[in-house]
Amino acid sequence: MPTVLITGTNRGIGLELARQYAAEGWRVHACLRNPASGGALKAIPGDIRLHELDVTDEDQIDRLAKALAGEAIDLLINNAALGGPEDDTDPDEWSEVFRVNSIAPVRILQVFLPHLALAKDPRVLNVTSRMGSIGDNSRGGSYAYRSSKAALNAAMKSFAIELKPKGITIAVMHPGWVQTDMGGPDAPVPVRTSAEGLRRTIAQMKPADTGAFYNYDGAPIPW
Ligand SMILES: NC(=O)c1ccc[n+]([C@@H]2O[C@H](COP(=O)([O-])OP(=O)(O)OC[C@H]3O[C@@H](n4cnc5c(N)ncnc54)[C@H](OP(=O)(O)O)[C@@H]3O)[C@@H](O)[C@H]2O)c1
Repeated sequence: MPTVLITGTNRGIGLELARQYAAEGWRVHACLRNPASGGALKAIPGDIRLHELDVTDEDQIDRLAKALAGEAIDLLINNAALGGPEDDTDPDEWSEVFRVNSIAPVRILQVFLPHLALAKDPRVLNVTSRMGSIGDNSRGGSYAYRSSKAALNAAMKSFAIELKPKGITIAVMHPGWVQTDMGGPDAPVPVRTSAEGLRRTIAQMKPADTGAFYNYDGAPIPW
C-alpha cells in the first residue's frame, strides 16, 4: 500500500487526513510537534507511525528524513500552519508565520525529494488558503497570513515547474472554511468533508495538472 507523510497531525485537518488514509490502508507517517498531544493519533487503527516534528526545526527535519531513508513516500502533505497573529504587522510574529507557513513546506519538500523520487507516482499536497489568492482578495486585512500563503503558493508553483520532468505532481489546495481550532465553530465545512475532498482532488490530478491551485472540491482558484 502507498505511504503518506503529513505534518501537523495532532488536531484539525491533519488529524482527519491521517485517520482517513490509515482507514484506506495507507502507511501514515504522522508528524506532530508535541508527542504528548498525540492521544487521538495513537487511537487510530492501522499502520500509523508518529514522529516528533516542529516544521521549523531543521535538525528534526533532517533526522526524520534519515530515519526514513530508502523508503518511498507516495504523498507528502504540508499541512501544519499558523493562523494570523494578534498584531498583524509585528515583524517577529509575521516572521514566525512565514517560517511555519511558507519556508518550512519548502524545506520539507527539498529534504524529502529522495523519498518522493522512490515512488511510482509521487505527489505533494500543500494545504494553503484561499486567503493567499491575490485575485480573490476582496476584504483586505490579514497581512501576515495572506502573504505567507501567497508566498507558499508562489514557491510551490516554481517547484511544480522544476519537478515536472521528474514526474512529481504538486498542488496547493484550499481546504474550505473548516470546523477546526483555526476555522472556529461557525465554519460551514466539517473536517471530514474537507479531508475527503482534498484526498479525492489530489488523487484525481494528472501530471499535466501540476502546479494548480484548487479548492478542496477540485474547483480551480485564481492566483
Ligand atoms: N480551518 C480552516 O478554515 C482553514 C482555512 C484555510 C486554510 N486552512 C489551512 O489548513 C491547514 C490545517 O489547518 P487546521 O484548520 O487544521 O488548523 P489547526 O486546527 O489550528 O491545526 C494546525 C496544526 O498545525 C500544527 N502546527 C503549527 N505550527 C507548527 C509547527 N511549527 N510545527 C509543526 N506543526 C505545527 C499544529 O500543531 P500544535 O497543536 O502543536 O500547535 C496543528 O497540528 C493549515 O495549513 C491552514 O492554514 C485552514
